[in-house]
Amino acid sequence: MSSEEKKYVSVALDGPSGAGKSSIARSVAQELGFLYVDTGAIYRTVAYCVRQKGVDPKDAQAVAALLPEMVITMGYDGAGLQRMYLNGEDVTKEIRLPEISMCASQVSEIPAVRDFLLDMQRDMAKKHNVIMDGRDIATVVLPDADVKIYLTASAEERAKRRHRELREQGTPVDYGVILVEIEERDYNDTHRATAPLKRAADAVRLDTSELNFEQSRQEVLRLVREQLSL
Ligand code: DC
Repeated sequence: MSSEEKKYVSVALDGPSGAGKSSIARSVAQELGFLYVDTGAIYRTVAYCVRQKGVDPKDAQAVAALLPEMVITMGYDGAGLQRMYLNGEDVTKEIRLPEISMCASQVSEIPAVRDFLLDMQRDMAKKHNVIMDGRDIATVVLPDADVKIYLTASAEERAKRRHRELREQGTPVDYGVILVEIEERDYNDTHRATAPLKRAADAVRLDTSELNFEQSRQEVLRLVREQLSL
């Protein structure tokens, strides 16, 4: 994109599951008046459809054959929260079910799925100032992003946070089970052939293992302000 065409700024926030990307991105977007785009939610919507149709998420051909029937759209509610629609049906809540997480990781390995979702993600950045979180935002979706941050934390720390969150929500899950799932998703996301999770060479690595939410949020805000001269 030439600098003349580029009207909006974009912040790419990549990293593994449970690093705190979404809560930080949402809060930073709110503070700066940017649109927060959660790209994981888009992959989750594909996963939801695949499960609903009873298709094996590892069967690339069968999943690809479903794509033409999927109309995925996103919108924002009054509180600025992203909502996902599958063929007009609001699936925002359903895509958060635990069984969708692993399925999303599996369908996201399929190149046809990634291609199918690429323009939708890029369009958001053409029309708004965005902070977009995902796995390949800085490397593939928005390689010209103005700010690139790779947010990470140790698998143990991420599992601890998720464990606490689920306990607070009244749906406790064994810590060991959470840790294994996080490690499994990390492996899938970093080892797939297409657009694997990795830090872009020009992304700033921010490890939040020793930081609390507010410290991590402040650090992301500082990096964004510094690089955008805000
Ligand atoms: O961020 P999340 O946990 O909601 O994402 C769900 C899955 O989607 C994750 O395991 C990997 C995949 N994903 C991806 O491959 N690329 C993205 N940009 C975002 C998510």
